[in-house]
Amino acid sequence: MVQIRIAAESDIPAILEITNYEILNSTVLYEYEPRSLETQLVWFRQKTESNCPIIVADLNGKAIGFGTYGPFRARPAYSKSIEHSVYVHKDHRGKAVGNSLMVELIKLAKVGEFHTMIAGIDSSNMNSVEFHRKFGFEVVGTFKEVGFKFDKWLNVVFMQLLLK
Ligand SMILES: CC(C)(COP(=O)(O)OP(=O)(O)OC[C@H]1O[C@@H](n2cnc3c(N)ncnc32)[C@H](O)[C@@H]1OP(=O)(O)O)[C@@H](O)C(=O)NCCC(=O)NCCS
Repeated sequence: MVQIRIAAESDIPAILEITNYEILNSTVLYEYEPRSLETQLVWFRQKTESNCPIIVADLNGKAIGFGTYGPFRARPAYSKSIEHSVYVHKDHRGKAVGNSLMVELIKLAKVGEFHTMIAGIDSSNMNSVEFHRKFGFEVVGTFKEVGFKFDKWLNVVFMQLLLK
């Protein structure tokens, strides 16, 4: 059975595998080069030190998905707004793993007394747009041609959920 729990450093190889798959094969992440284990460890330590949760969906001891959030923008007046992300391993999609991760992220955000959650989604990623709609996120706008990957300009859809 899949369990949602806080990530540990030992989850980093599994998180790295999921992340690098998306970097190499999709426009979900606006990065070109696969990350190293060291880079992903630094990401983990920085998030942990700044109290940004990283949660994983654990199946028999292996992370098959993860979710996290962090500041939306740096200036102090934005401090009640967060930007999140959720990733599920390609072999485990469509089985409510993303759903469980998102439920927990929203719960943590409410406990943390944040006011709004924001997702920046590549406009071709309709699965993610539908996924977010399910939780009440609404499209607030689209930035045109702000990314460039695989020889194409990419648009980013921003979706927002007000928590109160
Ligand atoms: C988007 C993602 C996180 C969804 O996770 P998942 O475990 O596959 O989704 P779930 O099975 O929990 O589905 C939850 C809801 O999302 C929507 N959804 C999920 N997959 C979908 C698909 N292929 N087409 C349309 N809607 C879909 C549905 O509304 C679904 O609810 P339902 O089952 O009641 O219809 C997952 O597909 C993923 O990791 N994709 C690649 C990374 C990514 O795009 N992350 C988001 C970046 S912003």
